[in-house]
Amino acid sequence: MKYVTLSQTNDLMPTLGLGTWQASSDIIETVVYNALELGYRHIDTAFNYNNEKAIGNAIKKWLENGKGTRNDLFITTKLPHVGNRASDVKKFLELQLNILQLDYVDLYLIHVSFGFQCNPETLTPLVNPSGEYVLDMETDHIATWKKMEECQKEGLVRNLGLSNFNESQISKIIKEATIKPQVLQVELHAYFQQRKLVQFCEENDIIVTAYAPLGSPGAKDHFVTKYNYSPDTFPDLLGHSEVKAIADHHGKTTAQILLNFLLKQKIVVIPKSTSEHRLKENMDIYDFELTPEENNSIKKLDRGEKGRIFNFLFWKGVENHPEYPFTFIIQ
Ligand SMILES: NC(=O)c1ccc[n+]([C@@H]2O[C@H](COP(=O)([O-])OP(=O)(O)OC[C@H]3O[C@@H](n4cnc5c(N)ncnc54)[C@H](OP(=O)(O)O)[C@@H]3O)[C@@H](O)[C@H]2O)c1
Repeated sequence: MKYVTLSQTNDLMPTLGLGTWQASSDIIETVVYNALELGYRHIDTAFNYNNEKAIGNAIKKWLENGKGTRNDLFITTKLPHVGNRASDVKKFLELQLNILQLDYVDLYLIHVSFGFQCNPETLTPLVNPSGEYVLDMETDHIATWKKMEECQKEGLVRNLGLSNFNESQISKIIKEATIKPQVLQVELHAYFQQRKLVQFCEENDIIVTAYAPLGSPGAKDHFVTKYNYSPDTFPDLLGHSEVKAIADHHGKTTAQILLNFLLKQKIVVIPKSTSEHRLKENMDIYDFELTPEENNSIKKLDRGEKGRIFNFLFWKGVENHPEYPFTFIIQ
């Protein structure tokens, strides 16, 4: 496993993590245990993935079986959209630690820049009869961040970060923060390379984690099934002919090429898989170098904003939130 060093704590963050979105509770316990056995040390989850309990079970079992220590692991989870306010930060973090059966997490991210009103019974977003999500128009990033800092000082979390925030939102937090964001987790893959944002993060000592590094092939079905929302186009990055040719040249798979391409830019990757075979495949990504020509040809696949899959418009009305992070023209 390879690591990057986080700026404020000098903690080591494994450059490969296991994504767990869309991995249901009934299978993820075994998957996480197997992943730890294979050598994964970094697990990415979130309150909204509804799998923290099963992931916590797997970690507990692995530790109890003497396979390693808590220090060996890097566990990330996220403050949900329904808890995106100062008064809810500690409440959610403590609840999540309890569900995960952990004393602390290594990284706590504000999951999205906007907030929804919360149904206190179910801890899910309030949705009005027309299907629109009820926005919390009072979202205050600075106030929320100050509470995140308090949680870090109390030892509930080792490192703090953001997810799905734009450059201007991050800059405002940096200006007011005592503890600066150490990680930004955003959608990032060959079709959507976010070079300007990556450079901004580099200049500010923020490690970038790429979500959907393989182009999230499972997302489309999920958007349609869960939200009846169908994006106009949906990329098939794993099947791209140029990536395939590069993969053939190295005796690797297209997934391995796409992950290696990001790693070489010091970007942390968190591909999700529940298949043992693909868990292994996604780890075997450190032992080859793309040629400058190959690197350039993948760079050229960038579609800019058109490559974005996760615009969150499946949450009806979200674009009306004052902190909706994306400024592209909504069709
Ligand atoms: N912060 C955020 O808002 C946010 C949003 C989205 C995702 N995330 C995080 O980022 C993680 C990764 O993103 P993602 O899950 O959307 O997309 P992804 O990792 O790009 O793609 C996962 C999909 O690819 C398949 N897959 C995995 N390895 C493969 C391989 N070697 N060959 C072929 N197919 C392969 C998986 O299927 P199998 O399971 O069947 O292998 C799954 O359908 C998430 O799981 C989550 O932890 C964060």
